[in-house]
Amino acid sequence: QKRIRVPHLQKMKETGEKWAMLTAYDMYAAEIFDEAGIPCLLVGDSAGNNVYGFETTVPVTVDHLVPLCRAVTSAAKHAMVVADLPFGSYQASPQQALATATRFMKEGLAHAVKLEGGKAMVPEVELLVRAGIPVMGHIGFTPQSEHVLGGYRVQGRGSGADALLEDALALQEAGCFAIVMEMVPAPLAKRVTEELRIPTVGIGAGPDCDAQVLVWQDMAGLRGGRMPRFVKKYLDMRAELGRAAAEYAAEVRSGAFPAAEHSFEE
Ligand code: KIV
Ligand code: NA
Repeated sequence: QKRIRVPHLQKMKETGEKWAMLTAYDMYAAEIFDEAGIPCLLVGDSAGNNVYGFETTVPVTVDHLVPLCRAVTSAAKHAMVVADLPFGSYQASPQQALATATRFMKEGLAHAVKLEGGKAMVPEVELLVRAGIPVMGHIGFTPQSEHVLGGYRVQGRGSGADALLEDALALQEAGCFAIVMEMVPAPLAKRVTEELRIPTVGIGAGPDCDAQVLVWQDMAGLRGGRMPRFVKKYLDMRAELGRAAAEYAAEVRSGAFPAAEHSFEE
């Protein structure tokens, strides 16, 4: 199987085949998810929370993400790798967005980029698409604006519903190949998905989107503490890894590790 590209994802919209997307920030995650058949991997600015230990995505820079992107792209043989444009790296002008996206395509070797925002981002999206860079949109709850939005809140309720649909349509017309919808009421996400020609990718946006995306450390239970409602934990990796580390340490203390089989003869 060759590299997944924009037409493959578009085709799945047309045939009604749903697909899953995951974040990845390093080689093994990329390799494992690629082998599992995940067609699209996101080097998200959620690396701020999940790799770098920041509290939000706001401090994440292009320099933080480019090396992660290169690792993921090198390891993933089939998946389309999408690089997230970090806060402050694209909102100043279409020219700034093009310079940043170009850096990801050249140095991070990404196959597409993602940026947050609706109508306001149309000039940026248009320029990138004109330059030959596939762009994924991101509307609803947009974590880079959490200081304006007032924290993690469902977006597009009540009178916000029509505005969200207009944002989605504007991004589609600007040339986006797909749109992430984050924390949007399920009926609204369904309506947007039906109105759009391009795929929608939901996170906390109900079952009717064309695709779903989750942060892998959430899905695999590596992250501790309370999980958002939209996460399903498919593995308890934090507990498993903690158990392995404690067992290893106990065996070192007791002398059970290393055994003869782990040691070299003269
Ligand atoms: O950075 C990220 O992980 C994201 C997804 C949750 C869509 O933007
Ligand atoms: Na993101």
